[in-house]
Amino acid sequence: MNKEMIRLSHISKKFGDDLVLKDINVCLQRGEILSFLGPSGAGKTTTIKIITGQLRQTSGEAWILGQDAGSMNEMIYERLGLVTDNSGIYEYLTVYQNLKYFARILKVPEARIREVLEQVGLAEHQKKSAGKLSRGQKQRLVLARAVLHKPEVLFLDEPTSGLDPSTALEIHKMLHQLKEEGMAIFLTTHNMEEAAKMSDHVALLNEGVIVEYGTPEELCLKYNKTKRFRVRLAGGREELLTQSLETAKQIAEWMARDQIETLHSCEPTLERVFLEVTGRELA
Ligand SMILES: Nc1ncnc2c1ncn2[C@@H]1O[C@H](COP(=O)(O)OP(=O)(O)O)[C@@H](O)[C@H]1O
Ligand SMILES: [Mg+2]
Repeated sequence: MNKEMIRLSHISKKFGDDLVLKDINVCLQRGEILSFLGPSGAGKTTTIKIITGQLRQTSGEAWILGQDAGSMNEMIYERLGLVTDNSGIYEYLTVYQNLKYFARILKVPEARIREVLEQVGLAEHQKKSAGKLSRGQKQRLVLARAVLHKPEVLFLDEPTSGLDPSTALEIHKMLHQLKEEGMAIFLTTHNMEEAAKMSDHVALLNEGVIVEYGTPEELCLKYNKTKRFRVRLAGGREELLTQSLETAKQIAEWMARDQIETLHSCEPTLERVFLEVTGRELA
């Protein structure tokens, strides 16, 4: 079922004379992951702050769960989850006590705490004080807290930034699971692999402007102007060929003689797409 959870329409934001968001238009549907991919300073966090009512836009409209983001009532806050840097975790409380504290505020039954602890892989650390957790474990606790009340929309502002690859992978798995359960997820990242892997749709954000929008596949195919193929032949020789009639004949010939070990098309990565659209690197 298609259900619109977020709609940004012609959003612009100025800090003083500085125009940091320019005419942003996007939607997020139920069960969808939308990523804002862009370098530091592009305007990702500002966008999240506007949608979650922490900042007011200069012009345009921001709707979340059918309400104006600037005048949300408390009922709406109970339907959102937020993962950001300022985690709001109490370091001197244990993992379990942290979640119990928030469960009470959010009127969530205690059984749900155990469920979430399992889901984020912290069950065996529940008696540890939060201050003693590793960075990755702490991020899982932040995520556990954000989804405790089964929010309909989850915001994650660079959730895997600075985490080791295996913890990042665990978090990606959790997000996929939450999406499968129908949660709408708004993700920001400067990691193009993360955006490519996680997103149903990705918006490339550069200096406050969405310069491209689509599925990761759509964007990579759109910028696949020089079609190239990497061939590995029997005996180990590798060839990189560009689309042409000669290439077609050559590949057909190798194939007829059963000389091809592997054959891959080389479409650009999202990083190359970003570079092509903006003329700058993501990092
Ligand atoms: N409260 C603020 N006052 C003035 N400028 C700000 C404020 N918050 C962010 N900015 C500026 O807005 C731009 C976008 O910032 P931000 O949304 O944090 O980018 P990102 O999250 O993509 O790194 C940056 O140039 C930043 O310096
Ligand atoms: Mg940011």
